[in-house]
Amino acid sequence: MIQKKVLSSSDESSEDEHVEDLMDKQKLVQAKANKPTRTSVSAEVYGQFNKKGQFQAKKVNKSEDAVKRIKQRMSQAFMFSALDEHELAIVIDAMEEKKFKAGDFVIKQGDDGDVLYVVDQGQLDCFKVFKKGEPEKHLKVYQPGESFGELALLYNVPRAATIKAKTDAICFSLDRETFNHIVKDAAAKKREKYEEFLSKVELLKDMDPYERLQIADALKVQKFNQNDYIIRQGEQGNTFYFIQKGDCIATKTENGTEKEVYSYKVGDYFGELALIKHEPRAANIVAKSEVIVVYLDSDSFRRLIGPVDEILKRNMGRYEKYVKK
Ligand code: CMP
Ligand code: CMP
Repeated sequence: MIQKKVLSSSDESSEDEHVEDLMDKQKLVQAKANKPTRTSVSAEVYGQFNKKGQFQAKKVNKSEDAVKRIKQRMSQAFMFSALDEHELAIVIDAMEEKKFKAGDFVIKQGDDGDVLYVVDQGQLDCFKVFKKGEPEKHLKVYQPGESFGELALLYNVPRAATIKAKTDAICFSLDRETFNHIVKDAAAKKREKYEEFLSKVELLKDMDPYERLQIADALKVQKFNQNDYIIRQGEQGNTFYFIQKGDCIATKTENGTEKEVYSYKVGDYFGELALIKHEPRAANIVAKSEVIVVYLDSDSFRRLIGPVDEILKRNMGRYEKYVKK
């Protein structure tokens, strides 16, 4: 559950409450889903999805080129990162190409929603009215490889924002049925698993809760044993890490001697310098206990960590000030 924050801006607190509200609704939906459901003997039923009742996989005819583009975009869209190959194939079959002209509304806040979109080409604006009667706020511009429209499907609620094509655009849409049977559980579970951890990460504490949820979608996890090197000084770096469990130190090797230059605890981050400066890793990161890290690749880092870029840059000064305890 996302913690309620004490914020001065009423906009931000209503945003927090909105996500919190969505989470409550999600729990309700899940409780309902746990009730015994009708099973079917007919149709094309996929093993583990049996328990959810009949699922007729949808096949939308499309060109080989469209299938290729869908595969490429899905590998970039975080929402699908937890799917295996078989599940991905079902989703690709069900996706439909939709074209929009600049200025077209793709989603209107408050409407019922029954599809999710992945952007293939063009840009789309996202607007939201946070409080009735107030003007809408421009939240972001969606780019190719990003997805939107998942909230209405995840939590069975009206559309939470408006999406309007900024340029001519092509999106791939995925229907509610396929989303519910193939994507929803994995995506909702991942958001639930990481939202509490991320809400306590100091670097992200003032970030919009919705943006934090998207970080949850994109995270990957890795375990290390005591004394393992998570990062090696001088190597190329494409990943940015948060420590979910355990302790680490940073060391630097100069003139053949390795010296501790920083220490970390749960919730801290490292690996930002190589990604921001486009330089080799500036230090080693060594596990001091069994460690679990969650990490973002450089593409996700650029797309999702943007809002805290200034804090990262400001924090760079901390390395010079570090004194070993
Ligand atoms: P949905 O509510 O189905 O439709 C509108 C979409 O806008 C929503 O899903 C999200 O994918 C997207 N969106 C982007 N930013 C936000 C935000 N801050 N709050 C809610 N929805 C957002
Ligand atoms: P990066 O250079 O990508 O990989 C090694 C990381 O160690 C670096 O990012 C910082 O996050 C971290 N670090 C800790 N202490 C230092 C230090 N004194 N100098 C440089 N990097 C440090």
